Amino acid sequence: MAGRLQGRRILVTGAASGMGRAIAEMFATEGAGLALLDLNNEGVQAVADELGAVGYACDVSDRDAVNAVAIKAGQALGGIDGVVNAAGILTIKPFGELEPKSWDRMLAINLTGPFNVVYAALPMLRAATSATIVNIASTSALMPMAGTTGYSASKAGLAMFTKCLGFDLGPNIRANSICPGVIKTEMTRYLWENPEHSERAAERVALKRLGLPEDVARAALFFSTEDSGFTTGTELPVDGGFSWR
Ligand SMILES: NC(=O)c1ccc[n+]([C@@H]2O[C@H](COP(=O)([O-])OP(=O)(O)OC[C@H]3O[C@@H](n4cnc5c(N)ncnc54)[C@H](O)[C@@H]3O)[C@@H](O)[C@H]2O)c1
Repeated sequence: MAGRLQGRRILVTGAASGMGRAIAEMFATEGAGLALLDLNNEGVQAVADELGAVGYACDVSDRDAVNAVAIKAGQALGGIDGVVNAAGILTIKPFGELEPKSWDRMLAINLTGPFNVVYAALPMLRAATSATIVNIASTSALMPMAGTTGYSASKAGLAMFTKCLGFDLGPNIRANSICPGVIKTEMTRYLWENPEHSERAAERVALKRLGLPEDVARAALFFSTEDSGFTTGTELPVDGGFSWR
């Protein structure tokens, strides 16, 4: 049976680790042609080699570098039908202790990064028959949490950026965001490596477990296929029931 992404060419950022990597793996299994981008050169090359993809070392906050990679990726794949923006960083500090340079960096990577990628890929997305944009936001986009002024502002901005893209780029390009809860990746290792913290975090969600990168990859697959063909400008919590309260 043909994969659900057969014939589609997709650029995934943050693909060296965590959700970006799980998305790349699932999309490769589903037959997508993939261009992978990450700050971590060694990591992204290793994943690209494993999946038969092209990999690029690039900082998503560097607009010129992103433009150059988008052009190379488009040439390598013969076009781009979709992007998934998974690259991101998290700094948790009470306001007043959060350094302005941490704020700047979170905004630059988590919000301006996806802008740079979508902007650079836009001519190719416009040339595609039915293109998709998937942005990995966070439950932090939906509800306030202590110590996350910078992170939550960047992710709320990303969710609203995505909604507005849905309007501006329809009908041929759909844009949706995913709002993961606590997912077991490098970013949250500090939390789930400690059994007591991990149990407490799981206890707070209806489904009584932390999420896995594959939980998010399945949602990204949905938004990257015609299964979500009448859905744009929305944000989907993938959080085991953390954010509804
Ligand atoms: N883990 C969670 O619980 C959680 C929850 C909600 C949202 N998120 C979001 O999900 C996304 C994926 O995070 P993850 O948990 O898989 O983390 P991760 O740390 O495992 O992976 C993030 C990847 O992004 C890359 N990256 C960081 N800065 C970059 C830059 N400037 N340019 C290019 N690549 C860069 C890193 O090298 C890494 O490979 C992030 O946007 C994160 O904010 C994570």
